[in-house]
Formats: sequence, structure tokens, C-alpha cells
Amino acid sequence: MRRGIFALAVTGLLAGGAAACGGDGGAGSGIPGDGSVGKVGIILPDTASSQRWGSDDPKFLKEAFDAAGVAADIQNAQGDKSAFQTIADGMISSGVRVLMIVNLDSGTGKAVLDKAKKAGIATIDYDRLTLSGGADYYVSFDNVAVGKLQGEGLVQCLSDMQYAKPVVAELNGSPTDNNSTLFKQGYDSVLQPRFDSGDFVKGPDQWVPEWDNAQAGTMFEQMLTQRPDIKGVLAANDGLGNAVISVLKKNKLNGKVPVTGQDATVQGMQNILAGDQCMTVYKAIKQVADAAADLAISLAKGEKKTVSQSIKDPESGKDVPAVLISPKAIFRHNVKDVVADGFVARAQLCTGDFAKLCTENGV
Ligand code: BGC
Repeated sequence: MRRGIFALAVTGLLAGGAAACGGDGGAGSGIPGDGSVGKVGIILPDTASSQRWGSDDPKFLKEAFDAAGVAADIQNAQGDKSAFQTIADGMISSGVRVLMIVNLDSGTGKAVLDKAKKAGIATIDYDRLTLSGGADYYVSFDNVAVGKLQGEGLVQCLSDMQYAKPVVAELNGSPTDNNSTLFKQGYDSVLQPRFDSGDFVKGPDQWVPEWDNAQAGTMFEQMLTQRPDIKGVLAANDGLGNAVISVLKKNKLNGKVPVTGQDATVQGMQNILAGDQCMTVYKAIKQVADAAADLAISLAKGEKKTVSQSIKDPESGKDVPAVLISPKAIFRHNVKDVVADGFVARAQLCTGDFAKLCTENGV
């Protein structure tokens, strides 16, 4: 990833798109040129792989577009790649001026981006980069940094447990999600040197198709059968972490085997408060949603927009102008920061038995 200064004149870029479809400057040509504000289409991936897609991202995105008075059509493909394409076709034919997607895989993501570009629509990859997709912009978190925080968090929790030469298992995200590769790059940069030095022992290491939590549980059950001495688990997000914790509970190992996560979900933070999960990574969705909405609103108005970062598409080799937000590690002692930031409501987190744990931990 390169973090240099990257300036881009959006008008030039969009004018190219408009020329491709006749350059008439009408609706759907990307640039209005008449002071009108276009509509924005947003496609989210599913509601099963993380709490964020069903509640957080749509909420913060809607708030940002509403505040600006710009029309946004926010839809969710529910994990269905053909539904994803149908939604995109509908948005394109309804004349959106900007299309923002979280792809389900790069193949279908690229097909959608290609169609949008042909129609002169400005495109944004939101959260996940579409490989060879050539989106005009990428708005996400620094995903290698997310992985590093997970790796460092696990090292911290394993050292708290004072395990000698712990066996560490890895449950990576979906192999079709470029973020999974970036997260792994981050945590392996922390773990691999420890495997190499013999401080840690490399255990099973698998990718979970579609971030499917049920499959993750089955996979971890098999891992634990093969290696009953697993002492730490790098799980790529809170959903996978929770699947691991359920298996550990059945084996009375919860709390003894640190597990990581990501997304600062209510469930993940409850697992942390209970002592079953080591840490999670808080990604301030409001910040990423605001940044993406800002960009989309400018594009919908046909305004110029420059951004200061870029990311190299590892497949096409092209630099994609990017906005990347910094993530934050959350352990038991700073769960309260996520509540203070307004991401999770205290009343939602501190239910039942968690009320006492919340009070004890200053939430
Ligand atoms: C996102 C994570 C999310 C995962 C599963 C990733 O691309 O960055 O926040 O947990 O997908 O939906």
C-alpha cells in the first residue's frame, strides 16, 4: 500500500465516462454540468457476516446523505451474487449518478463496475477493493493495520496467560474478500516472526468461505480435534470469533484460549467483558460512512474532488485513489471507549449479566 499524495481531477475522469456514452451530460453520465444533484446508489453485501452491514453502515450512510439532502438508495444483496447484480442493474437504469458497492467477490463486483462505467456513472468501492475493478475511488479502513492490531492483541493476551510455545490457529475471512488478504498480511507480519523463532507454534490455518459463521464453527471443531493443544486463535472478525468461542465453551476451554475479533459488535464486546474473547478491532463506521458520503455527494454534484491517499490494486497494478481510516484495538479495559464514541449504546451492551461486568469495567 502506498500512502503518497494522490490528486485527481474528478471532472476529467468523469468526462471520459460521459464521452463513452455519447457525452450528452444527461442523467447517468456522471457529471451533470447543470448544477443539479444526482442520486447515489449503494449496495451492501449481506446481513449475516457482521452486524455492521445490517445496522451500522446503512444507519450512518443514511444519516450523512439525509443531512446533505442528497437522495441515496441503500440496498443489501443478502449474500446473493445474482441479487447483487440485479440491484445494480436497477440502480443503473434508474439513473444514479454515483454507484458505491461492497462487493461479494471481485468477479461480480467488476461486472457491476464495468456496466456503471459504461453508463458514465462514478464508482466507489466501499470497504472492500474490487480487484481489477478500476473503481474511481476506494473508501475503507487501513486493513493491514486492522490485522496488525489483531496479531499484536493476540500476542498480548497469550503473554498475559504466560503460555510457553503456544500453538496458534488462524481462521481467516472469506478468500474472495480482498480485505481478508490484507488482514492476514497484517497479523501474519506479527505472528510469522514468532513462528520462525519458535516462540509460538503454527497451528491450523484456514480461510472461511463467505465469512460463514456456521462453517467457521465446524472448521474450528475439526482444528481442535486435530490439535487439542491450541492455545490461541486469530479469528478475523467477531462472528468467526464467536463461532470459535462456542466450540471452546463445549470443551470447557473458553477463557483459557484467547480469541481475537473485529468490528466491535455487541456480541464481540460481550464476549470480551465475559473474558471469553481477548480483543476486537473498532472501526469507526461513522467516519468511513461520512468520508464515503462526502465523496459521493461531491460526485453527485459533479464537483472536483481530490483525496490524499491511494492503494495499489494487486491484480491490475493500478493505483486507486483512496481514503483510509485508522482502526483501534479494544480490550476489556477500553470497551467503554466504543460506547463513549456512540457506536454501541450502553443499554444494548450491558444487558442481563453484562450489567455488572459493564460497571466493573467502567462502561
Ligand atoms: C469487513 C469486515 C467484516 C467482514 C465480514 C470485511 O470485508 O471489512 O468489517 O467483518 O468483511 O462482513
